[in-house]
Amino acid sequence: MKCTFVVYRFDPAVDKKPRYQQYTVEAEPTDKILDCLNKIRWDQDPTLSYRYSCAHGICGSDALLINGRIELACQRLVRDFKTANNFVIEPLPLFRVIKDLIVDMDPFFEKHREVRPYLISDEEPPETERLQDAANQGSFEPALRCILCGSCTASCPISRTNEKYLGPAALLRAFRYLADSRDTATESRLAQLDNEDGAWGCKTMWWCTDVCPKGIPITKSIGQIKRFIKEEEKKKH
Ligand code: FES
Repeated sequence: MKCTFVVYRFDPAVDKKPRYQQYTVEAEPTDKILDCLNKIRWDQDPTLSYRYSCAHGICGSDALLINGRIELACQRLVRDFKTANNFVIEPLPLFRVIKDLIVDMDPFFEKHREVRPYLISDEEPPETERLQDAANQGSFEPALRCILCGSCTASCPISRTNEKYLGPAALLRAFRYLADSRDTATESRLAQLDNEDGAWGCKTMWWCTDVCPKGIPITKSIGQIKRFIKEEEKKKH
């Protein structure tokens, strides 16, 4: 069947402003939106720029605005949309456009680094692995599914108004280490998040949870950080 794709185009090196370009693609209902973008690029217009790698929902590089909703292009099929085979494809909101559908993710990853996304322990390194019990691991297992696609942060209304706000993805990663019983940097992690640029910036709008392609309860996890902060305060008084 014939599908129409209206695609955002912008090359800051030559264009004064963005434009939209229309393509017609012969597609199967079971084709992924990513397949359709590939058909455009390979058969019609090699200048169209977008990111992807795994094509299987693992690398997180092809989050886009598809018909106004943030989705992974490799996780949505043509038949998933009830738009009479018409698609509007745009880059992730919030991020600066580098070219066409490619956005600058550097500020996103910088915030991820800020929360120290690794295990910190002041205990002597064991001779083998640092073992963990299943119940503790289960308490933050959903957070381990994050693929850092940026969908949550792109959807977040707070991230749009406060540039310093860490954003849902970085906060989710912070939660993952706060909940891990092997990590001993709890106090300094919580001190970093106890402000409006951290956990208290979240106003529980749930948009991040709604768009997460991995179904991670992001808003709840940020709420858990707020509880950790309150429990830490109680310990001190
Ligand atoms: Fe890797 Fe879609 S291309 S998640």
